Amino acid sequence: MFIKNALQGAPATTTRFRELWDEIAPIGRDARTGGYLRYAFGEPERRLREWFRVQAERRGMPVTGDGNGNLFARWGDPDATGAVLTGSHFDSVPQGGAYDGPLGIVSAFLAVDELRAAGVAPDRPIVVGAFVEEEGARFGVPCLGSRLLTGALTPERAAGLRDADGVAFAEAFGDRPAGARPDLLAGFATFVELHVEQGRALVDRDAPVAVATAIWPHGRWRFDITGEPNHAGTTRMADRRDPMLTYAFTVLAANKEARLRGAHATVGRVNVEPNATNAVPSRVTGWLDARAAEEGTLAELVEAVRAKAVERARRDGTEVIVTEESATPLVGFDAGLGGRLATLLDAPTLPTAAGHDAGVLAGHLPTAMLFVRNPTGVSHSPAESATDADCAAGVTALARVLAELAAR
Ligand code: GLV
Ligand code: MN
Ligand code: MN
Ligand code: MN
Repeated sequence: MFIKNALQGAPATTTRFRELWDEIAPIGRDARTGGYLRYAFGEPERRLREWFRVQAERRGMPVTGDGNGNLFARWGDPDATGAVLTGSHFDSVPQGGAYDGPLGIVSAFLAVDELRAAGVAPDRPIVVGAFVEEEGARFGVPCLGSRLLTGALTPERAAGLRDADGVAFAEAFGDRPAGARPDLLAGFATFVELHVEQGRALVDRDAPVAVATAIWPHGRWRFDITGEPNHAGTTRMADRRDPMLTYAFTVLAANKEARLRGAHATVGRVNVEPNATNAVPSRVTGWLDARAAEEGTLAELVEAVRAKAVERARRDGTEVIVTEESATPLVGFDAGLGGRLATLLDAPTLPTAAGHDAGVLAGHLPTAMLFVRNPTGVSHSPAESATDADCAAGVTALARVLAELAAR
């Protein structure tokens, strides 16, 4: 094999990683916090898509779109089927980290370089992909691009999605999304997504790279709580119908119910109307993000929170409506493929509670994920990090995986 130890990037790879990484590092970075604001089709994300095209062109890899906003750069016969797809996403959560997403795309281009430098001529085409709106930070549904591509979400449903300013997905994209592309999917034999780890398992295992086994079932539920707007000074406490109270109780209930089940519940987004200091609000909308190792546990958790919110609303004289915005079932990655890659890389295997486009594609083609160690485990935060040496190890591991999967 052309690489002796897959889990250690060569110093030259570390240097090449840093050079390429520095090209995108300033794009969409908030100078005040160091966090990233890279939303689907927003200016920074468009610049990153342009950067993707330039990188592909430099490497002589023609780029095609899928009509849904996802991009694919191809090395190899344009007509051959059985291609190996690798890549990730550019978009971030509000004030997100640098690595969540872009690491998988930068590593994919560098892995192509590494294969070429080693004189590897893959039998199958290798395709680098960039998926759109993975975080759902702009239009609310995570993995929107891969859901459209696979048909998990219809173009009609996508057409109805609007961002906080009322801009529709189709308007931001500039076209009506094409929806399912079984013709495109049929051309891929495998998908491998490299991603920064979003926990501390690799620190605990003292390893730079791991292979994923599964993704916890997870989803998003919107709690719309309405009450009676009124004067903060003159309205007697007993006369209030305050949705903020119902909301606050619901957040506490979500935390408690999740802990009871060994699950995770977060309310990280809230909207208050009219948002005045001296008025009882008319409406509070909170978004519950819930995740659990098993689908039954997740369903139980969401139902328990819903029931507690409804009961509390009855006491507060408010009304609560719960709407499921997205739900992703348990994803078990192809065990044969994962085991093969773990052996190839001599890497540990682990499950994750974070969602990925790989989780959506796993229902359609054999899919695997590689995680690169994150020293603090922090993610979806400006503090997310990975060392250049570990990122280089990730590139080398990915190159090795691609060489293996692209050989007939
Ligand atoms: C995506 O990163 C998610 O798991 O929320
Ligand atoms: Mn993320
Ligand atoms: Mn991600
Ligand atoms: Mn994700």
